[in-house]
Amino acid sequence: MFDLKDQVALVTGAARGIGRTIADSLAKSGATVVLADFADWDAELQIVGDRTYGVRLDVTDPEAVKGVIGQIVDQLGRLDILVNNAGITRDGLLMRMKEEDWRKVLSTNLDGVFYLTKEAVSRMMRQRYGRIINIASVVGQMGNPGQANYVASKSGVIGLTKAVAREVASRNITVNAVAPGYIATAMTEDLPDSAKQELQKMIPLGRIGTVEDIASGVLFLASKEAGYITGHVLNINGGMYM
Ligand SMILES: NC(=O)c1ccc[n+]([C@@H]2O[C@H](COP(=O)([O-])OP(=O)(O)OC[C@H]3O[C@@H](n4cnc5c(N)ncnc54)[C@H](O)[C@@H]3O)[C@@H](O)[C@H]2O)c1
Repeated sequence: MFDLKDQVALVTGAARGIGRTIADSLAKSGATVVLADFADWDAELQIVGDRTYGVRLDVTDPEAVKGVIGQIVDQLGRLDILVNNAGITRDGLLMRMKEEDWRKVLSTNLDGVFYLTKEAVSRMMRQRYGRIINIASVVGQMGNPGQANYVASKSGVIGLTKAVAREVASRNITVNAVAPGYIATAMTEDLPDSAKQELQKMIPLGRIGTVEDIASGVLFLASKEAGYITGHVLNINGGMYM
């Protein structure tokens, strides 16, 4: 559908779930894709498939982020597309939320996006081209009880997206967010069936989303065709929030 030939992409949290499918879809469209995750692979880029590389990366470690982006530019020549997808939840009502759970979620979901974006932008500015796509969440727009840390991190990602979009637009770099609704992945599979049924009632399109629903929106924003879109939040939520 979109041609990403000769482009290099980095997807964080790409070992499984939404990130994995995003990485596969960018690769299918012709990009060379680096899958980064703290759960898999080694610290050095390794070939894991056709035009795909894996690398171990903890997005909360700014030195490791510098190292990985340096390796990508040294070995693959450039960095065109960054998808900040790594994210975690540590749910609990505010009154019972431990400071550690607050910090852990903010550091992965928001600090991580800051470190990667900062490092990528410095490379993309020199190329005068770049696409940055941050995976936010519908709850960052609507709020959700029991997720003060996660919601704050995802609202923060939306704010960061808009601020950076304004800063780097003159260098032909676009920065957008994708806000998924409820998507069937390991992150949501533990919800009780009753909660899933209640959720489904809140979704006008009447179904939980798939990882492919998210990947197709990311692919569009990563393409040259989306060159006049920046600072946008693309809702992929079945109509749950409009
Ligand atoms: N599943 C949903 O319903 C849903 C809804 C809205 C937003 N999201 C967002 O989509 C993104 C992907 O979610 P998912 O459902 O695929 O989750 P997932 O838990 O299946 O996958 C997340 C991946 O991120 C990796 N990761 C976690 N911390 C990391 C770190 N510090 N450094 C590097 N990698 C790290 C994990 O190892 C895992 O492979 C997240 O940002 C999540 O908040 C998911």
